[in-house]
Amino acid sequence: MVCLGNICRSPLADGLLRKKVALHQLDVIVDSAGTSGFHSGQKPDLRMIDTAKKFECDLSILRARQFVKEDYKAFDKIYVMDSNNLKDVLKLAPNEQDKAKVDLLMNLVYPGQNIPVPDPYYGGGEGFLEVYAMVDKATDKIIEAIQKK
Ligand code: 4NP
Repeated sequence: MVCLGNICRSPLADGLLRKKVALHQLDVIVDSAGTSGFHSGQKPDLRMIDTAKKFECDLSILRARQFVKEDYKAFDKIYVMDSNNLKDVLKLAPNEQDKAKVDLLMNLVYPGQNIPVPDPYYGGGEGFLEVYAMVDKATDKIIEAIQKK
């Protein structure tokens, strides 16, 4: 799961998917990163931690890190939150096969529509709830897809 800072959107997607993977006892490795290293080493934004906590999802153990090209080796799927993340992540792709691993997260719910998960960093609390609702739907789709395999 990749966003810009790895302190708001992608940690939520990471934590929520980890929770669902554990609930369904699936053997999947989940992680997240930011295209910038600006917040590397930091905990998720407190507003995101508090929002997730309302839904019994603990993000407090997560720490921000920057996305690196080696992530293409480590992961089968790379979900990004918006078109800027998409551009920045694709720039680091070693080859065309790796580029095919990348998609916008909300394309899982609305295929081909390229809807971004909006950056809540500079907005109010309702932005964090909106992000939660979107990411909750998308991570459900990931679980459904894995269970069909
Ligand atoms: P995120 O949100 O990409 O969802 O983690 C942001 C966090 C920090 C900044 C921008 C977006 N920032 O400019 O510091």
